[in-house]
Formats: sequence, structure tokens, C-alpha cells
Amino acid sequence: MASLKGRFFSLLLLSITCIVLLILLQGNVLGSNSRTGFLEYNRFREDSDEGESTPSPENPQNYRTTRRNSLMKPKSDKKTTPAETPIPVLSLKSFDKLPQWDFEDIYNQDSPPRLTTCAQSLRNSQDKDFQKAFLPNIRLYLHKDNFNMSEWNRLSHFNNPFGFMQMHHEEVMAAIKLLPKLKEPLLLPKQGGDGCVHCAVVGTGGILNGSKMGAEIDAHDYVFRMNGAAIEGYEEDVGNRTSVYVHTAHSITASLAFYQKYGYKAAPHDEGIIYVMIPEGLRDFQWLQAVYKGERVVSGEYKNRNARTYYSGQFNESRFYVLHQDFLRYVRNSFLKSSNLNKTFWGIVRPTNGAFALFLALHVCDTVSAYGFMTPDYSKYSNYYFERYTKTHVVFYANHDYILEKNLWKKLHDKKILKLFQRTKSEAVTEKPKQL
Ligand SMILES: *[C@@H]1O[C@H](CO)[C@@H](O)[C@H](O)[C@H]1NC(C)=O
Ligand SMILES: *[C@@H]1O[C@H](CO)[C@@H](O)[C@H](O)[C@H]1NC(C)=O
Ligand SMILES: *[C@@H]1O[C@H](CO)[C@@H](O)[C@H](O)[C@H]1NC(C)=O
Ligand SMILES: *[C@@H]1O[C@H](CO)[C@@H](O)[C@H](O)[C@H]1NC(C)=O
Ligand SMILES: *[C@@H]1O[C@H](CO)[C@@H](O)[C@H](O)[C@H]1NC(C)=O
Repeated sequence: MASLKGRFFSLLLLSITCIVLLILLQGNVLGSNSRTGFLEYNRFREDSDEGESTPSPENPQNYRTTRRNSLMKPKSDKKTTPAETPIPVLSLKSFDKLPQWDFEDIYNQDSPPRLTTCAQSLRNSQDKDFQKAFLPNIRLYLHKDNFNMSEWNRLSHFNNPFGFMQMHHEEVMAAIKLLPKLKEPLLLPKQGGDGCVHCAVVGTGGILNGSKMGAEIDAHDYVFRMNGAAIEGYEEDVGNRTSVYVHTAHSITASLAFYQKYGYKAAPHDEGIIYVMIPEGLRDFQWLQAVYKGERVVSGEYKNRNARTYYSGQFNESRFYVLHQDFLRYVRNSFLKSSNLNKTFWGIVRPTNGAFALFLALHVCDTVSAYGFMTPDYSKYSNYYFERYTKTHVVFYANHDYILEKNLWKKLHDKKILKLFQRTKSEAVTEKPKQL
């Protein structure tokens, strides 16, 4: 019996491997419609001048072509019947580097247009590389009304947080069906202002220690923070307002445990604050269920935690947004495609929470100033601004490409798309970014 079962499973495994290999092979031959990343764009510019149309779900011609090779394979090209059952669960272990699906760079782009009267909006940037990479209407948030089985099947090809690889439909749906469709755009220009949405995004970088940037940060219309955003005792350097707090279940729980000794007592909870979650794994969907229901987490890593208490009474369904997998994947593919995605540990390689927060700001604000993000002279500062009394080193975790991010912030600063807070400007210009 056992050996029969064993044989059955090896056969099943073999067939799945064959299918996956086939798809990969086809992808390699046909999958040449990839958008080029922001940093790499210069290299490819010459051969893509001919108004190459970006495939999108609104462009059925391209969508159909690219769907042909996917696991959700339609029977015929004429009548595409929507898939009604989840595809078999794909495993990270089946791929020794980032798999390339030919629908990798197809994103929902249906965010309501943000009509801005702001002349200095970063959306008006004339920079060709940026114009090419930036998708102003990329879908930003996941909710129950923009999700269905074909979306599940499409997104199940991508690892977390860019999709649902290795996850089971019912486990994730239990959370998604609770997510309401919320008001967009996220932020409006302040009344009596200049018609622009001015944002500060405050990272936790040591460069902020002693910076006295607090007043300048607080003077923005909106202040974004993420992770261990310690404020009390650091106001002079980092400000005291938080309008948008970006987090994961891990960051909101772990920050409390790790940074308590620096005076971090709770996630920011200003009156009316907007919470934004990066759903980075199954544990976040388990967390979300508990948050929305006001119950304890029923399973997984945070089992029995009273999730809502982490928001200090400021949880409010109408102000809690969950980022969409398409947005997260687009940020990686168009701006932060690390060469580590070709390594066997590709499955854990992703932009930092700070990078996602900064890109959210670039999509919902007109001007963005970044404070506490990596700069060319990062080694002069502690890892975190709250490490005030001991000089620590910046810690490089394998799941993030900090150097790539550092170079991107500098590049976006030089192109005047954002303003990166730097302390030693003269040195900043001498270091040559890696990928240019
Ligand atoms: C499923 O959702 C996607 C994205 O929101 C949408 O484009 C598509 O039309 C939906 N499909 C069905 C069958 O409802
Ligand atoms: C921040 O500091 C200002 C000036 O000291 C104060 O008026 C304001 O109430 C503070 N805001 C918060 C959210 O603590
Ligand atoms: C939730 O927030 C909205 C918008 O800020 C507000 O109108 C509503 O009263 C809040 N609900 C609760 C239960 O606090
Ligand atoms: C991975 O390797 C392939 C082939 O060597 C190369 O074309 C691609 O650019 C690499 N991807 C990344 C993200 O570096
Ligand atoms: C933090 O800033 C203070 C004030 O400028 C300074 O005295 C201290 O040495 C700094 N700490 C580190 C670790 O750089």
C-alpha cells in the first residue's frame, strides 16, 4: 500500500515537473515581451524605440497571447472560459531561480485616475527612463471585489509577496473575502494648499540621528513611516506625526519585541491614521482575518495573538489598505530586480518594506521626500536612528538587496523624482552606482 502510494506520488511529481519544465521552456522561447527594469533601461533603449505596446489586461490581444502558455491554459483562443478551480499548488522548490512566466509583467492597471493640478508633480517628470518604468494607474490594493479565481490562478505563479505560490486558495480567501473596496485616491491635496500632495517617507536609517529634521518632516502634508518607527524621544530628528503606517504582521509584532529597549512602545496610532499592509505571506492573511474580525489569530505563527491590539484602538476598516500583489511585483520587476533572483535563494529575495512604502508614496503623492533611507555614505551611521549611543553597522540580510536600493534612491534623487535626505552631499556625487 505504502509503496503503491509512493509510486503514485512520484509519478504525480514527475508529471508536474514535466509540465513546469515545458512551461519554462516555452517561456524562454516566447517570453520576450518583458518590460525592462528602471536601472537597466539605458542599456536596452535603442532596440525598444518602436512604440512597443505594454501588454495589459486592457489589451486583450496581448493578454490572450500571453495566457496561452500559462497553467490556466484556455481550451481555445476564441472562447476563453474563466478557470473555475484553483491550479495545483506550485512549490518554490521546483525552481532554482526566479521563474519567468510570459505574463510576469502583466499588471492590473485600473486605479482611478488621479487628476492632479500640481505642476511640480513627479508624474510630470520628463525623464524617459522613469516615464517608461512608471505605471501611474497600477492597481495598488487588494480587496474582495477585484479578486476571483482567474486572478488567483494567475497570481499563484508568483512567490510571496508577489503572488500566492505555495499557498492554498481557501486559506487566503478566508482573509480576502473580508477586505472591503476602499476609497481612492488614498490621499487628497490639503485644503488651502497648492494643489499638490506633499509627502515625507521616514525610514529608520541611522542617518537621521542628530539630523534635526523633525520639523521639516512634520511640515509635509502626509508622513509615511514603517517598521520600528520609534518617535518618542526622537521627535527633533524624525518628527512626531504619522499619517500612513506601512507594515507586515512580522514587522508590527517583531518591532515591538526588538525595539522596546529604544523606547518603541507601539506602532504609530495618530488619530485617523491610515494603515497599509504588505501581505508578505500566509501569516499575514491569518493576521488579517483576526484584525478584521476583532478575534484572536486562529492558526499559524501568530496563533492566539490579539491582532487588533497592535493598532492601539486606531484600527478602522475604512482606513486599512492591503497592497496588491501586482503592485509589489511591479516594484520589483521595474525598479528593483536584484541579481540575487538568479540564485537558489531567489524565493526570499524582495524589496524592503521601506522600498515598498516609498513606492506607494511615489504613486499616491505629487512630491516625495525620503528621510532615513540608505545613502552612499551609509557606513558612517548606525543601522537605526534609535541606536544613538553605540555606533552599529548596517546589517545586510540576504533577502534584501540594500545596495541596489541605495543606488536607486540616489538615482531617483538625481533625476529629481524624489528628494533623498543626505548629509554629506559632496561625497554623495563621487560614488558610482553599481548598475549604471
Ligand atoms: C476577474 O478579475 C479580474 C481582475 O480584477 C478581471 O479583470 C476579470 O474580468 C475577472 N474575471 C471574471 C470572470 O470575473
Ligand atoms: C507634534 O509636536 C507638535 C509641536 O510640539 C504638537 O503641537 C503636536 O501635537 C504633536 N503631534 C503629535 C501627533 O504628537
Ligand atoms: C472610521 O473612520 C472613518 C473615517 O475616518 C470615520 O468616519 C468613522 O467614524 C470611523 N469609524 C469608527 C468605528 O471609528
Ligand atoms: C538572470 O540571468 C539571466 C541569464 O543569465 C539574465 O538574462 C538576467 O538578466 C538575470 N536576471 C537578473 C535579475 O539578474
Ligand atoms: C547620534 O547623534 C548625536 C548628536 O549629534 C551624537 O552625539 C551621537 O554620537 C550620534 N550617535 C551615533 C551612533 O552616531
